[in-house]
Amino acid sequence: MKKFTSILTLCSLFILVGCSSNIQNNDEAGGEQETPIYQDGNAIVVYFSATGNTENVANYISEHIEAPLYELEPVDPYTSEDLNYSNQSSRVVLEHNDPNRHVELETVTFEGFDEASYIFLGAPVWWQELSWVVDDFVELNDFTNKTIIPFATSSSSSYSIDNLKELAPEATWFDETRFSSRVSESQVIEWVDSLGIDFRSEN
Ligand SMILES: Cc1cc2nc3c(=O)[nH]c(=O)nc-3n(C[C@H](O)[C@H](O)[C@H](O)COP(=O)(O)O)c2cc1C
Repeated sequence: MKKFTSILTLCSLFILVGCSSNIQNNDEAGGEQETPIYQDGNAIVVYFSATGNTENVANYISEHIEAPLYELEPVDPYTSEDLNYSNQSSRVVLEHNDPNRHVELETVTFEGFDEASYIFLGAPVWWQELSWVVDDFVELNDFTNKTIIPFATSSSSSYSIDNLKELAPEATWFDETRFSSRVSESQVIEWVDSLGIDFRSEN
């Protein structure tokens, strides 16, 4: 019964918080917000993707702005069984329930990081947060004078990066942008262009 209720809750969350639009800024309905002016500067694209959707978005961004693309790879990759959140003893459910979870990555150090002003950081939405696979990358790097632009794909719900901001308080953080799992390349390009920043410019 408990198992059934948990599955039902997760499914309801996807549907209830869902939005038909393909691109969604979490703060869209947040009322008046002062938009800071961002300098032009070069970028890198860093992402984790378990089933390829966020990888597509990361590729679209990287190709469009000609930025290096880096994948965050868990030392122990997720199998489809690991990702089965309907199973209460699957890896993702156990990790989600563990406040001390930790996913070791092959590396968190990428060429081009030091020179980059902007880091596009992408991952799937897992339980309405960016997948915790990105945590080490955020915690173990120094983002002083850098701006992180978070993006995610999800079935329907938006997400919060409050936990990640605590791991890198020195960074400037853009608001969360969320794409539907099957967003098109042109929609991603439209979003990147809407930021109004020349990511090809030297710092
Ligand atoms: C463990 C897990 C948790 C998920 N949680 C959510 C969620 O809270 N909201 C949602 O809309 N989609 C959720 N999804 C669906 C994924 O966010 C969606 O399929 C995403 O596009 C997957 O991206 P990827 O292919 O890059 O891994 C979840 C998927 C998994 C495997």
